[in-house]
Amino acid sequence: MPAWQEARFAAKKSLQANPAAALMSDLDVVMLNPGLARLEERLSGAVRLHRLWQAPDPASLLAQLAPRLRAIVATSHSHPIDDAMMARLPKLEIIASFGVGYDHINAKAAAARGIVVTHTPGVLDDDVADIAMALTLNAVRRLPQAEAYLRAGEWRQAPFALTASLRGRRMGILGLGRIGKAVAARAQAFGLALAYHGRSAQKDCALTYYPTLLGLAEACDILVVAAPGGAGTRHIVNGEVLDALGAQGVLINVSRGSLVDEAALIEALKTGRILAAGLDVFENEPNVPEALLALDNAVLLPHVGSASHATRAAMADLVVDNLLGWLDGRKLKTPVPETPWPR
Ligand code: 8YV
Repeated sequence: MPAWQEARFAAKKSLQANPAAALMSDLDVVMLNPGLARLEERLSGAVRLHRLWQAPDPASLLAQLAPRLRAIVATSHSHPIDDAMMARLPKLEIIASFGVGYDHINAKAAAARGIVVTHTPGVLDDDVADIAMALTLNAVRRLPQAEAYLRAGEWRQAPFALTASLRGRRMGILGLGRIGKAVAARAQAFGLALAYHGRSAQKDCALTYYPTLLGLAEACDILVVAAPGGAGTRHIVNGEVLDALGAQGVLINVSRGSLVDEAALIEALKTGRILAAGLDVFENEPNVPEALLALDNAVLLPHVGSASHATRAAMADLVVDNLLGWLDGRKLKTPVPETPWPR
């Protein structure tokens, strides 16, 4: 058993033996970015919470806390947590992240340092899948454009132009995880044929598996991106994949902007090499390229997949339960797969 693992076991045992040691009001926890009021309230009621973004000099506050800091909360995937940062926090035990995607955290490096990382899977699948279907309908049937047409008073002059349809279409899902499966269940009810691509074919899955993304794109005309972000998937949806989708093709992205080569997508939308796109995520959030804003065949949302009151509250609770559960010597609820302990 590695030394760090032994140390963790010893710490856990001593907490169990002496519950008073679990009194947490003296424990420092750093929140790196602003979060839901519920998250801040629950945390500040239990631990000494430091809101790093409010500090006059965040770097020096972090340096000052470093010799005793055991826990940090991350709420923004735009702020990377890399190995260098972890190296500066020698007592760090847990990074509790608000969100299912954790591509902004070097989870392998954390595991090597004995730091656990938690995320919030499961509680947001349905909301995100709803948004994937909403984007699909909006992109194909041009509902935002139709509404703008009505509001501008143009309906009085002429009916809105006819649009493409969902009928007879085949949806390909890139990444058949929890969210991908929730999208598939909805798409089935819409009468769409379904196929998927991921690292491997899934047992007991009735959908057609394509071992390559290009193969999936060739076989489909709606591609829904639901795979995790990170170095391994960066720009996998490139110009070639978009061309394979074809002139009636529709790209939907509810995962991470990094999976799609945004410049290639803009070019494909501009030149009509695909029909439309529905995007909830972008390469450089919250900045959306002017060229994309200018396109009439792109439906754009400000990363709202999980942004309902109920889902965000459930995510906040999961963050707090993981964090306090850990600090109190209990088991983690939802560690990321890279986290080696406890299992
Ligand atoms: C974000 C998300 O967490 O879960 C994810 O991976 O992208 C979202 O739910 C949310 O926008 C907060 O940053």
